[in-house]
Amino acid sequence: MKPLLKEKTVLEFQSGNFRDLFPALENNPGIIYFDNAATTQIPESVLSAIQKYYESHAANPGRGSYDWADEAEEITAQTRDALANLVNAGDTDGIIFTNGATMGLNMVAQCWARHNLSPGDEILLCPSDHHSMVLPWEELAKEKGLVIRPYRLHANGSINLADLQGRISHRTKLCCVTHVNNTAGWVNDLAAIRKSLPEGAALNVDAAQSISHAPVNMQAHGVDFLSFSGHKMFALGGIGALCVSPRVRETMHPVFFGGGMADYRDGNPVYKKMEAGSPNMAGIVSLKAACAFLSGIHINPLKELTGHLYKRLLVNPRIDMLYEQKPYALDRLAGIASFTIEGWNSGELGDVLADNGIFVRTGRHCAGVRESVRISLQLYSSMDEIEKACDILDNLSEM
Ligand SMILES: Cc1ncc(COP(=O)(O)O)c(C=O)c1O
Repeated sequence: MKPLLKEKTVLEFQSGNFRDLFPALENNPGIIYFDNAATTQIPESVLSAIQKYYESHAANPGRGSYDWADEAEEITAQTRDALANLVNAGDTDGIIFTNGATMGLNMVAQCWARHNLSPGDEILLCPSDHHSMVLPWEELAKEKGLVIRPYRLHANGSINLADLQGRISHRTKLCCVTHVNNTAGWVNDLAAIRKSLPEGAALNVDAAQSISHAPVNMQAHGVDFLSFSGHKMFALGGIGALCVSPRVRETMHPVFFGGGMADYRDGNPVYKKMEAGSPNMAGIVSLKAACAFLSGIHINPLKELTGHLYKRLLVNPRIDMLYEQKPYALDRLAGIASFTIEGWNSGELGDVLADNGIFVRTGRHCAGVRESVRISLQLYSSMDEIEKACDILDNLSEM
């Protein structure tokens, strides 16, 4: 197994040296993978942790008194610990394993809001966020008579705090925020949002796009619910977490009931009553290794890469950005650029890029926005890759 990263200079990153830690990228030298907002590639250290675990044994944690089961239990506890550290949750009691961000975001609606909000209570929500954030609230609001107060983004895709503040009332019980929006890529200021909310309003954060690179600090930012997926942070698909603050834990109620929940009515720790059935051990092992991988990265090149991507895209007069960007604001963009080119639909653009070995996302990106091409970078992306993609876009014929 190769050692985890310690120190690297920005120059080394820019030449794409991260690639050699990712077998899928190493095995496909001709491919430029620019769909990292959909899913990230998996580093060798994570793959070998999974293999090592299953080569030694498979066991069900918390369901046996022999060594293998104890060890599985220990790995599960260590993973909760690693996640609590990653998001500064304060303790591990509120770290609930889910199958991904979508499940976590739905659990906030079904396990908390369903039992704690009353008709007429208000929820702040951005309608152009990912459907996994928006649809659970539209459904519950219809059913329970809750009121959704939609707030706006600025033209550049960041949250318009003044607009959000203007929609707060004495009935505001929950504010839903996407830390990094999956089409705009802007890192929203959670501290400023928390500060503007009434103390009693819960803060529900979708960290699916930020968890792999933008620090989330649950305690410092007063976050009550935080959801993310393993497969967007270098771990496997089918695993993720919902992290819950102490003040809302006791008021949560399970949707699923089953094995491992004999004492669920005691409610302590909250994950005991929220994780029915046998856990996804491969996913848990992968999350633990992914946390170790993330903690070994001391300089993340994403900001430089994103700045370069935008500067490069913006020199092409035919490119129409989904969100307006000005050069001075580029340093807060987190690896995502969504755009169209006059005369081309997003599917055609995606095909041209794919024909040249460049993989991007096209369409509406599961959000209430118009169709576009989305380039999303990761720490293994490089300046050369950005140049190649932008050269192709620059040289497209007029349609
Ligand atoms: C911002 C955001 N939230 C939620 C999700 C849902 O994640 P998953 O499909 O892993 O549950 C995504 C996935 O693209 C996303 O980008």
